[in-house]
Amino acid sequence: MSAAREPIGVIGTGYVGLVSAAGFAELGSDVWCVDIDAAKIERLQRGEVPIYEPGLEELLVRNAARLHFSTELADALEHARLLFVAVGTPPTYSGDADLSAVHAVVNAIPASEDHALVMKSTVPCGTGASLMRVFGEQGKGGLGYVSCPEFLKEGSAVNDFLHPDRVVVGDDGGPPGDAVAELYAPLGAPLVRTDIASAEMVKLASNAFLATKISFINEIANVCEETGADVVEVARGMGLDDRIGPKFLQAGIGYGGSCFPKDVDALKQLAGNSGYHFQLLTAVIEVNDLQKRRVIGKLQKHLGTLAGKRVALLGLAFKPNTDDMREASSLVLSARLQADGAAVTAYDPVAEEQARSLVSGITFADSPLAAVERADAVVLVTEWGEFVGLDWKQVAGAMSGNLVIDGRNALDADAVRAAGLLYEGIGRR
Ligand SMILES: NC(=O)c1ccc[n+]([C@@H]2O[C@H](COP(=O)([O-])OP(=O)(O)OC[C@H]3O[C@@H](n4cnc5c(N)ncnc54)[C@H](O)[C@@H]3O)[C@@H](O)[C@H]2O)c1
Repeated sequence: MSAAREPIGVIGTGYVGLVSAAGFAELGSDVWCVDIDAAKIERLQRGEVPIYEPGLEELLVRNAARLHFSTELADALEHARLLFVAVGTPPTYSGDADLSAVHAVVNAIPASEDHALVMKSTVPCGTGASLMRVFGEQGKGGLGYVSCPEFLKEGSAVNDFLHPDRVVVGDDGGPPGDAVAELYAPLGAPLVRTDIASAEMVKLASNAFLATKISFINEIANVCEETGADVVEVARGMGLDDRIGPKFLQAGIGYGGSCFPKDVDALKQLAGNSGYHFQLLTAVIEVNDLQKRRVIGKLQKHLGTLAGKRVALLGLAFKPNTDDMREASSLVLSARLQADGAAVTAYDPVAEEQARSLVSGITFADSPLAAVERADAVVLVTEWGEFVGLDWKQVAGAMSGNLVIDGRNALDADAVRAAGLLYEGIGRR
């Protein structure tokens, strides 16, 4: 732990806000966290952690004395000059980002020469400029503004905060930007100090590129299925090329989560609103939507009609090590399976509570083995470690049928086959 540093405010204590707050407290800052969700703030004040994120609880406990939680923006304004904004920016029906929470924060901030908003929320390019115009119209032109997009990944968010690949600070070169850069300096990450619009675009372009890589390898997987190649081998051969790299080349049943779908959509809409048709992203989105449904085709290929069949879903969260269900592939799958008349049982180590409010009509099991009991087919949806290490002989003994669809190409195909089960991955030979 380091010496006392600049105190900060964090507005919005979700995945990004809470992890950032804990991270900055670890670096020595007093952090004043504000959220409009009174129940969440009460839980945080009691020392409870409202989200599942490895390492977060430990960080919050260790730095409890530096972390302050309130529903009152005034508490943060009183103690901190820099107010990190980490409110949600979900998609609207049009695909554009919904900035209403950001605007609520902007409207609530009083005029000040001392304070600056530091935008961690992912916002369309041009948002900073338009918010500064709003400051001017509201007689709050003295407020500073810095774009500091967040790149952490759920499931490894604490580690990502403490060991970022880069820190991006977009501003007009004034003291608030210097102060933000200073706060991140102990992490020793490369600093990209740039203008606000470019910082905003770095975030959107990064997520769009990663999503493109996923849709690309998924299309390669689909072609592999037609041609007899194995996408795992192909990805290994491709990934060893320095210019390509091995990450985000795992074929599967598509990306989900709170960021990729909405950020890719937001960039596509942003381009469209500016008169540019971003063809590539249109395809990336369509490929991803179709990829989530390809599992249904695989099930039908082996089982025929799905009416009356029992299908077990292993995993519900959009990826391992998180309880986040936003845009999870399991939502599409469970709905499609039920629409085709299948009975769905699912197990997830941590996401059941979140899933219950989003998925109806399925049975929640309390262990992987309970989920596969009498199943005709098992689908690996989220590659949690406990599924990868399953005893497939036990699974085979519990199932009625013998089909295992590995939606993440994460299982040991030989071990599954050795248990007498029929293994089918995505783009595997
Ligand atoms: N989740 C991620 O992995 C991730 C990664 C990078 C960037 N981002 C971006 O960060 C932003 C936050 O994402 P998240 O996943 O942490 O969202 P979240 O939904 O988990 O949390 C948002 C929080 O903001 C609070 N809030 C809403 N309006 C508020 C207001 N007016 N004042 C105070 N609090 C308010 C909500 O109650 C909630 O607790 C989004 O723009 C997202 O795109 C998310």
